[in-house]
Amino acid sequence: MNTKKRVLTGDRPTGKLHLGHYVGSLQNRLRLQSEHEQIFCMIADLQALTDHADHPEKVRKNVLEITMDNLAVGLDPDKTVFFIQSHIPEIAELTVLFMNLVTLARLKRNPTVKDEMKQKGYGEDVPAGFLAYPISQAADILTFHANSIPVGEDQLPVLEQTNEIVTKFNSLYGNLFSKIEPVLSTVPRLVGVDGGAKAGKSLGNAIYLSDSKEEIMRKVMMMYTDPDHIRMEMPGKIEGNVVFTYLDVFDPDKETMQILKTKYSQGGLGDVEIKYRLVDILENFIAPIREKRIEYECHPEMVLRILEEGTNRAREIAKETMCEVKKAIGLDYF
Ligand code: TRP
Repeated sequence: MNTKKRVLTGDRPTGKLHLGHYVGSLQNRLRLQSEHEQIFCMIADLQALTDHADHPEKVRKNVLEITMDNLAVGLDPDKTVFFIQSHIPEIAELTVLFMNLVTLARLKRNPTVKDEMKQKGYGEDVPAGFLAYPISQAADILTFHANSIPVGEDQLPVLEQTNEIVTKFNSLYGNLFSKIEPVLSTVPRLVGVDGGAKAGKSLGNAIYLSDSKEEIMRKVMMMYTDPDHIRMEMPGKIEGNVVFTYLDVFDPDKETMQILKTKYSQGGLGDVEIKYRLVDILENFIAPIREKRIEYECHPEMVLRILEEGTNRAREIAKETMCEVKKAIGLDYF
């Protein structure tokens, strides 16, 4: 059994990454990279197709976008292995074998899948591939014997299913896989600029890591504050006020923040003023990411080479694991 610590994480290429992704997962990837952990960063194009089968061009386009987002925040291709899911056929092979270890009832009970199905309005007409994505996600992870998995907290039920698969596989075929551990953000999930429970690619309420200063300004000005705070002199509410939620996460000057909060709740601080503060802070945060991203945008062939080299490396490991799996089950005929 492999007991070395190995990090694997992934993104569905269905849209660019935003601040919610940064807080939820990218920050942890960067920390783990700086702690010299070996990171595998997977572009989950097959998983994206489970609900985008009719829009493969969108998935294709976003493979590069997502990779550039990850590179732009500081994941270093010399340390982190970037690879494309669809080019590791062993993942699909392992998915087929894992399918036998999970019941349909269990898949239907997965809270994450249930939520997403509701959001997409699938009902009973859910694509089988979508319902089964927790199985293929287990294969993504276990193909690499990864055990540390940085994800947003909404993914916890999916990772729980991976651990159930580990237990089931090991009990049937011998101890090959180790249990995995989610690596969660210490910051609670970032709300959308409209105050919606989740900043989402599909919900159009997110600030992207590639947004221009004008876009940041436009979105911050749209932000939900306290609807009863009509005039500056009036006392305003901090709780549920999205501007303060974002300032809490991104403003490094906690002392000034405390003073501003007191002033706002007592009356005498206007929404526009705190919004300008947030624009500045977010612009300072995003500007270097955006600049680095533009370098990659000018050289897509560089990004493709990073993906190709990473995929080749990932493939080597995947082949080894598949040999072990086949041996464990007794499928090693020749
Ligand atoms: N399901 C994850 C998400 O939507 C993406 C993903 C695919 C993933 N495979 C993974 C995350 C493996 C961690 C490990 O965010």
